[in-house]
Amino acid sequence: PRPILLTRHGESRDNVRGRIGGDSVLSDTGEIYMKKLANFVEKRLKSERTASIWTSTLQRTILTASPIVGFPKIQWRALDEINAGVCDGMTYEEIKKNMPEEYESRKKDKLRYRYPRGESYLDVIQRLEPVIIELERQRAPVVVISHQAVLRALYAYFADRPLKEIPHIEVTTRQIEIGVSLLISCCG
Ligand code: F6P
Repeated sequence: PRPILLTRHGESRDNVRGRIGGDSVLSDTGEIYMKKLANFVEKRLKSERTASIWTSTLQRTILTASPIVGFPKIQWRALDEINAGVCDGMTYEEIKKNMPEEYESRKKDKLRYRYPRGESYLDVIQRLEPVIIELERQRAPVVVISHQAVLRALYAYFADRPLKEIPHIEVTTRQIEIGVSLLISCCG
């Protein structure tokens, strides 16, 4: 079977500060993950000459991929994190305090809630369609380094999870025992 490896970027400085969105670099913990991931990928895919590494266009995924050598890298805007619109750069506490109606609407229906001037999970799922088509078309392994909301949607697609679960699937930046923070799924 051909592996599709899905992983979140290493922890970013905004993750540490609890700020959503943005385009920050990695924290020290994120840099450790970045190195572990490179070792893991190089070992796991060393006999797979045609494998490729897909990232978003945001620094934290590009940096996470940077020590992985020997494979082509492709950046996809469609793999960028959910656009939090006017809430970009805020913490959840700040949203709760300054925009309580927005906070409550999201809590009520996280799947359909669209950030003002931003996106909803349903929007993200829709824009991932070309990525999914291309992932299925590939014959070689692919390592996808992306973001929490995007990975929830991709994972749900490959693991056949129901739509309503998507915004709540756990995706961590900290699980480093096996070197990847989400999963390895296999397609035929
Ligand atoms: O906090 C990190 C992050 O990737 C944010 O940039 C993004 O808005 C958020 O996770 C998505 O997760 P949730 O939908 O649970 O807020």
